[in-house]
Amino acid sequence: MDKPKVVLGVSGGIAAYKACELLRRLTESGHDVRVVPTASALHFVGAATWSALSGHPVSTEVWDDVHEVPHVRIGQQADLVVVAPATADMLAKAAHGLADDLLTNTLLTARCPVVFAPAMHTEMWEHPATQENVATLRRRGAVVIEPAVGRLTGVDTGKGRLPEPAEIFEVCRSVLARGVTEPDLKGRHVVVSAGGTREPLDPVRFLGNRSSGKQGYALARTAAARGARVTLVAANTTGLPEPAGVDLVQVGTAVQLREAVLKAAAEADAVVMAAAVADFRPATYAAGKIKKQDGQEPEPVVLVRNPDILAEISADRARPGQVIVGFAAETDDVLANGRRKLQRKGCDLLVVNEVGERKTFGSEQNEAVVLGADGTETPVPYGPKEALADTVWDLVAERLG
Ligand code: CTP
Repeated sequence: MDKPKVVLGVSGGIAAYKACELLRRLTESGHDVRVVPTASALHFVGAATWSALSGHPVSTEVWDDVHEVPHVRIGQQADLVVVAPATADMLAKAAHGLADDLLTNTLLTARCPVVFAPAMHTEMWEHPATQENVATLRRRGAVVIEPAVGRLTGVDTGKGRLPEPAEIFEVCRSVLARGVTEPDLKGRHVVVSAGGTREPLDPVRFLGNRSSGKQGYALARTAAARGARVTLVAANTTGLPEPAGVDLVQVGTAVQLREAVLKAAAEADAVVMAAAVADFRPATYAAGKIKKQDGQEPEPVVLVRNPDILAEISADRARPGQVIVGFAAETDDVLANGRRKLQRKGCDLLVVNEVGERKTFGSEQNEAVVLGADGTETPVPYGPKEALADTVWDLVAERLG
């Protein structure tokens, strides 16, 4: 089978060096990558690097190898075009259909999915001109990843950083796998909760659970690759890399998670509650560390109920037609318990999976059945968490119409 053909467009920003890592990941995972830098990109990383890493010749202009008509052929043959970093200038050119070098010509001739990973200073990103260009590109079907927040060139920090190459790679993989030029969640805002809450007993101890957050992160990552604006409410997921193009809100306890989810849900088309939320929390919190007393039995820990966020947002929808998805982790009688839970919670879809010591928690794979309030039952075979996430979004997109 032919390797999927990827065009990696690189425009002239300091983050061009990070595109080398993206290129390496793409080639090592079996993609045939043709790098098309702009002339300014070569000020940051030279043609020899791109050529050596990709195994293809590199040119910036349409005047090299004219007999091969590269300004048309490269775009026509591509299965995916990804521009990383995409500067404000590149976004403007792409939005307006300018074609004054090889990359802009390629963008006009490509009929495959196109991903832009912008990187620039915060002021340039927030400028109405850039925002309008991004909106135009998204309206036409391109996936424009939101820049990350963090250190920019020099001493500034803010929104405008290129997301980590590994995460841009994940977006590319997800977009390529679907192969559609019209992302079905474009213009949608989705909220995903992930991880497991921790309910503190004292400053050093908590009641927690084994949820790693990987399924929720896969949901956030795949939704962004399908064009959605994503708010990821993450409880205690330290160590997991931040998915590209996602607004991350970090929380600790169930009460904090509820507050963050309710706030984001007010504007959302869909909410997916993948987080493992503690049903109970300690009734009291000791401001100082609880000490053991010689010769004395420990005090029993008294628990109180936490709010059921899924039931609450399902009963009182923030917007008409909002689609709400819950997760059920069950150890026995999985389907029957799932059906009862779906009814009790009042959500539209419930992803039911079996858990245990070695199943699901922390693993890269998952197996589940998605139950619909309308009686549907969609089995998802054992496979990567991304595949389950895509099935969830298929079912959500159907319901959003
Ligand atoms: N959930 C929630 N708020 C809670 C507890 C759970 O929003 N206080 C959500 C979870 O995010 C998940 C779903 O509800 O989407 C299922 O949670 P689970 O704990 O499995 O269900 P319970 O109602 O607690 O049922 P049981 O304890 O009987 O298994």
